[in-house]
Amino acid sequence: MIDENLHWVLSFYRSSEISGALFFGELARILRPSAIQQDMTRHFADEANHARYWTDCLQSLGAEPLKLGRVYQDQYVSAAGMPANIMEILAITQVFEKRVVAQYSLHLKTPNIPTEVRETLDKIMDDEHWHIQWIREALIGMQDDYGEDHIKETQKRFMEADREVYKKTILEHGQRVGDPGWPAGNRSVLMNNKEQARKRIGEILEQAPEAIVDDAVLTSLVNSSFLLVELVIELQEEFDVRFHQADMNEVSTVGQLIDLIDSRMKP
Ligand SMILES: [Fe+2]
Ligand SMILES: [Fe+2]
Repeated sequence: MIDENLHWVLSFYRSSEISGALFFGELARILRPSAIQQDMTRHFADEANHARYWTDCLQSLGAEPLKLGRVYQDQYVSAAGMPANIMEILAITQVFEKRVVAQYSLHLKTPNIPTEVRETLDKIMDDEHWHIQWIREALIGMQDDYGEDHIKETQKRFMEADREVYKKTILEHGQRVGDPGWPAGNRSVLMNNKEQARKRIGEILEQAPEAIVDDAVLTSLVNSSFLLVELVIELQEEFDVRFHQADMNEVSTVGQLIDLIDSRMKP
């Protein structure tokens, strides 16, 4: 039998996957025939499978799923407003998906994960990466119709909503935050700017927190320079800061990048 907090966390994952499946299923139903319709249908089927995997995982650990109220995704629309078109739908979806991947990858890094949980996370993560990728490509394909800047602004709006909803989730379930069964990343609302930046760098580069030390050289943490470009873009969007070419020439280590973000965030 598993402890109470892990029981809750796995039930929460199951409920989130069900909400995702229902949301993407509705979209797959209303979309017109297109490549997006096809990918959305596959996406919907994946999320439904993930709910099944968590249900099976709970069962193999000798636990039954807890019935939970509104989960994460259900609160997005009230926080960010109803998406008005297909581009906005994809933008909000991308924010969901990034949050899910960040959460699952943090969970994978917690010590003493039961084998059943690790195997389930591994199985799901492959699909989740595809989810982010197809949506990213679909949004790039919409730049001519909606404009690159407008798409970026929309993503930013939904990212802000995501942060609000996340904060609320943490406040509601705060008693679970200190528990080792609940991934440490959930403490992020309690972190300062520098800690948050360090945590995000680790997540984006998919590196263990121990690797994200101040004097680590950024180019040694990645195997493609494109990932560095992606890192820099993501950080600017998430922390709502702007870097210039000259800044980037000065930055070669993790510590310098964190200081740059922190200095730009000050009023
Ligand atoms: Fe999923
Ligand atoms: Fe997903």
